[in-house]
Amino acid sequence: MTTNVAKVAGISAGAALLGLGIPYFIRIAPPQITSFITDLPVAKVPLSLSFLKNNTGSEPVSTKAPFSCDTSHSYRTELVSLDPLIIYIHNLITPTETTQLLLAGEPEFAPSKVTKGGRQQNTKERTSSSAGLPEDNPTVQCVLKRARNFLGNMFRDGWDEMGQPQLVRYTTGQQFTLHHDWFASPLWADDGSWNTWNRLASFFVILEDDCTGGETYFPFAKSIVAPGPKGEQPGITQRESGGGEQQKPLWREHEDGGLAFRPVAGNSLFWINLHPNGTGDTRTKHAGLPLESGQKTAMNIWPRQYYAYE
Ligand SMILES: *[C@@H]1O[C@H](CO)[C@@H](O)[C@H](O)[C@H]1NC(C)=O
Ligand SMILES: *[C@@H]1O[C@H](CO)[C@@H](O)[C@H](O)[C@H]1NC(C)=O
Repeated sequence: MTTNVAKVAGISAGAALLGLGIPYFIRIAPPQITSFITDLPVAKVPLSLSFLKNNTGSEPVSTKAPFSCDTSHSYRTELVSLDPLIIYIHNLITPTETTQLLLAGEPEFAPSKVTKGGRQQNTKERTSSSAGLPEDNPTVQCVLKRARNFLGNMFRDGWDEMGQPQLVRYTTGQQFTLHHDWFASPLWADDGSWNTWNRLASFFVILEDDCTGGETYFPFAKSIVAPGPKGEQPGITQRESGGGEQQKPLWREHEDGGLAFRPVAGNSLFWINLHPNGTGDTRTKHAGLPLESGQKTAMNIWPRQYYAYE
């Protein structure tokens, strides 16, 4: 029992120390431990994806097409940074998937919370709102499967978990100051075992980008792309294909150092949070810079790496 007590104390201490860095909405088990972090609200409203066909005739009752997961959907990747690993993913999700994800999360939005001193709080450091996505939603499953495949052999099927994704929304003036997504101490598995887990990696997928400001800023990231022959900034070369608005650079070198990524719907940032020995990589600290106008909505996917109890 002393180990249990020590472990509980360890978690509390870890949470207290972590302060802002510790993220939100964690489920803690086993049940004998008094959880100080509440469950992430899960959407209970089913999505109207059902497509009713008239059995006798050929006319569909609804003109809404059913969601079918495009398992061959292709996206394009660019290596931004090797150490820590940061990858920019173009077109990770389709416009249809984006719409369905927004629909699924819409009823669940509530002020985002941060765990500070072991308690969940609404803070001035994180002023956005969040929504848990229902894991049984076909679009959610489709996108999670794609994210899982992206992880390749970093993810051990039957052992690691993709976790519950959530939406986060920022409106004018809202931000999330510098933080990291990993936990200083791994959290308990919620299966009653003594196994623990931490957030191996993060996907930050933009769903709505009708805004100014609101870049995702990594102060410790350095682009692996060399400056141009005339000393052009590396980010300037990283453009979306196509014309107009999309011709603006996707990321830039920030005046205070590091890289800042402009929100572009459908695209995602991906980074690895943990060192190979399981400790958190402080260089993955990042911020959601304040929105100057409009609205930005994104999806967080946090694949969990599990550790067996020894
Ligand atoms: C199917 O469509 C036919 C013809 O439009 C209609 O007569 C019939 O009632 C419909 N059946 C159902 C189950 O809606
Ligand atoms: C884990 O690995 C990182 C990166 O190599 C290193 O800085 C850190 O000291 C290591 N921590 C432990 C506890 O081994």
